[in-house]
Amino acid sequence: MVKICCLGAGYVGGPTMAVIALKCPSVEVVVVDISVARIAAWNSDQLPIYEPGLDDVVKKCRGRNLFFSTEIEKHIGQADIVFVSVNTPTKTRGLGAGMAADLTYWESAARMIADVAKSDKIVVEKSTVPVKTAEAIEKILIHNSKGINFQILSNPEFLAEGTAIQDLFNPDRVLIGGRETPEGKKAVQALKQVYANWVPEDRIITTNLWSAELSKLAANAFLAQRISSVNAISALCEATGADVAEVAYSVGKDTRIGPKFLSASVGFGGSCFQKDILSLVYICECNGLPEVASYWKDVIKVNDYQKSRFVNRVVSSMFNTVSEKKIAVLGFAFKKDTGDTRETPAIDVCKGLLGDKAKISIYDPQVSEEQIQRDLALKKFDWDHPVHLQPTSPTAVKQVTVTWDAYEATKGAHGVCILTEWDEFRKLDYVKIYENMQKPAFIFDGRNVIDPQKLRKIGFIVFSIGKPL
Ligand code: NAD
Ligand code: UGA
Repeated sequence: MVKICCLGAGYVGGPTMAVIALKCPSVEVVVVDISVARIAAWNSDQLPIYEPGLDDVVKKCRGRNLFFSTEIEKHIGQADIVFVSVNTPTKTRGLGAGMAADLTYWESAARMIADVAKSDKIVVEKSTVPVKTAEAIEKILIHNSKGINFQILSNPEFLAEGTAIQDLFNPDRVLIGGRETPEGKKAVQALKQVYANWVPEDRIITTNLWSAELSKLAANAFLAQRISSVNAISALCEATGADVAEVAYSVGKDTRIGPKFLSASVGFGGSCFQKDILSLVYICECNGLPEVASYWKDVIKVNDYQKSRFVNRVVSSMFNTVSEKKIAVLGFAFKKDTGDTRETPAIDVCKGLLGDKAKISIYDPQVSEEQIQRDLALKKFDWDHPVHLQPTSPTAVKQVTVTWDAYEATKGAHGVCILTEWDEFRKLDYVKIYENMQKPAFIFDGRNVIDPQKLRKIGFIVFSIGKPL
C-alpha cells in the first residue's frame, strides 16, 4: 500500500487529499498540521472550511484510508510520498517585504522531513512557490539526508475555492514537474500513477521542475489579468454609457478569447492572486527584468484602483460623505460558496468606508462576526501569518456590526453595497429592503447580481459596476 502524508490541512491540503483518498482506495492518506484546532475540526462533523461537496467526500473516506493527525513526525516517517501544502504568504518584513513569498513554513517543513525520514521519499511541492524553490528544498533535504534519497516534484494545485471538489474530480490538467534524471523520471511516474486512478492520461502533463513551478504563477497571473482587463474596461463603460456585460459577452464570443473569467467586479480577492503576482514581480525584478515586473504589477494596480473607485463612488454619490450613515454590506467572503475572507475586496471597501466614518452593518451567509472583526483589524499581509508572529493584536472595530440576516443588516441603512455574488442576493425581497431603508435609498452592486432597471423602478438609486448610470 502506498502511503501519502500531506503537511498542511488547509484549503488545498484537506480537499486535495480527501479526493485522492476517495479515488485511490489502495492508498493510505494522512493529513497533518501544526494547528491542533484545525486537525480537531477535520476530525469532527464541523469541517474547518466550507466547500460544497467536501463533507460527503470526507465522510466516505475518513477512518478508512483518510486520516487527520497532529503526529507530524510519525506520519512523515511512514510515508512514501510527502506532499507539502503549507501556506506561502507574502513576506511582511526584511528583504522583499510586501512582495516576495515567505518560505519560512516551507523551509521548516523541509527540515522536519529531513529530520525524521528513515526511508527514501518523494517530496511534492503542492504549495505555490517561487520558481527555483525546488532547488533550495533539495539543498536542505540533501545536506541533512543521512544517506536517504529524496526526489523533489512540483505538482501545483489549480483548484478554485467554492468549486474545489468539482475541480479536483475533473481537473483541466494535472501538472507534474521533476528532475530529468532516471530517478526523477521514476518519481514523476509514481505520482502520475496516483492521479491516473481518475484523471485521463492526456490531462496529466509532465514537465521539468522549473516549468511546473513557473506555470502555476503564470496561470494565476493570466487569470487575474483577465479580471483587471475587464475591470479597466468597466471604468470606461461607466464614463461612456457602454454596458460591461454586453462588452464582455461580445469580446468573449471570439473563440481565441473565450467567455470565462470576464465578469467585472469590485476587484478580485482570495489568498493567491495578489500574493502570487507580487511573488512573480519580485522574481522578475531579481532576474533583472523590470519591464516584465512592471507589466504584471499593473494587474494589481488596476485591482486596487477598482476597489478605491468603488469606495469613491459610494461616498461621492451619497453627497460626498458617509459619516455616521449606516451602510449595509451584503457579502464579505472573497467569492460565493466559500467562507474564506482572505484578501477579500470587502476588507478594503469596508476600511475605505470606515475611513469616511460610516457605520457598517455586514451580512454574509458563511462568515462569522469574529472573522470579520479580525480581518478589519489586521494589517495588510499579516492575515496569513500565525498569530504569534503578528506585531499587533486585533481589536474589535466599533463602527461595525455583523448580523446573520440581510434584512436586519439593511434596516434603516442609507446605502447597500453588494460585495459577494451569493446566489441568495439575487432573490432578496428588494421592495421590503427599500421600504425599511432611509431615503434616498442607494444600492451599489459590486458584483452585478441585481437588475438595475428593476431596482430603479422600486425607487433605489442604483450604481452597478460598468453599467450605464
Ligand atoms: P492554508 O493557510 O489554508 O493552509 C496551510 C496550512 O499549513 C495551515 O493549516 C498551517 O497550519 C499549516 N502549516 C504551516 N506550516 C506547517 C508545518 N511546518 N507543518 C504542518 N503544517 C503546517 O493555505 P491554503 O489555502 O491551503 O494554501 C496552501 C498553499 O497552496 C499556498 O501555497 C497557496 O498559494 C496554494 N494554493 C492555494 C489555493 C487555494 O484555493 N487556497 C489553490 C491553489 C494553490
Ligand atoms: C484562483 C484560481 O482560479 C485557481 O485556479 C487557483 O488554483 C487559485 O486561485 C489559487 O492558486 O489559489 P480562487 O482564488 O479560489 O482560485 O477563486 P477564483 O474563482 O479564481 O476567484 C478569484 C477572485 O476573482 C474572486 O474574488 C472572484 O470573485 C474574482 N473574479 C473571478 C472576478 O472578479 N471576475 C471573474 O470573472 C472571475
